[in-house]
Amino acid sequence: MEKAMIEELERIHQQYDESGDNIISALQHIQEVFGYLPEEAVYWFSKRTNIPASKFFGVSTFYAQFFLKPRGKNIITSCCGTVCHVKGAHRNLFQLNQELDFPKGEDTTKDGLFTLEKVACLGACSIAPVMVVNKKVYGRMTPEKVTQAIKSVLKADKEQDSE
Ligand code: FES
Repeated sequence: MEKAMIEELERIHQQYDESGDNIISALQHIQEVFGYLPEEAVYWFSKRTNIPASKFFGVSTFYAQFFLKPRGKNIITSCCGTVCHVKGAHRNLFQLNQELDFPKGEDTTKDGLFTLEKVACLGACSIAPVMVVNKKVYGRMTPEKVTQAIKSVLKADKEQDSE
């Protein structure tokens, strides 16, 4: 494990010790620092606290807020609920895959730029099919709008990088 990672974990552990935080807070803190829950960080924390790693993994897999794999820079959430499905969500997903070419069985692109999350109803069935790109909600999504949304994210990323 890298020295920088150990130092970060020491800091998190110290705070955990002092504040008497629970496992969830510790996991939230780890995720805040690393962007996800690296397996080695969980094992390190388990050893340091004498709490079985299974307990940490149990909690982290129970709550949707925790991620055990690195996530992409941009998050796309696609609703796969019944109404969205009926209204053509699968066509949008097909288009998304055409645009971003997710590796088979993976939800993050090879370059780490995009992560796709599929969820059940987003609670906006009246504007189905719904997709959320970096927190921006797209109602009545179409394959053409998918392409446009990806283009504008890539453009914004490029502009940000050149600043
Ligand atoms: S089914 Fe997609 S928003 Fe409800």
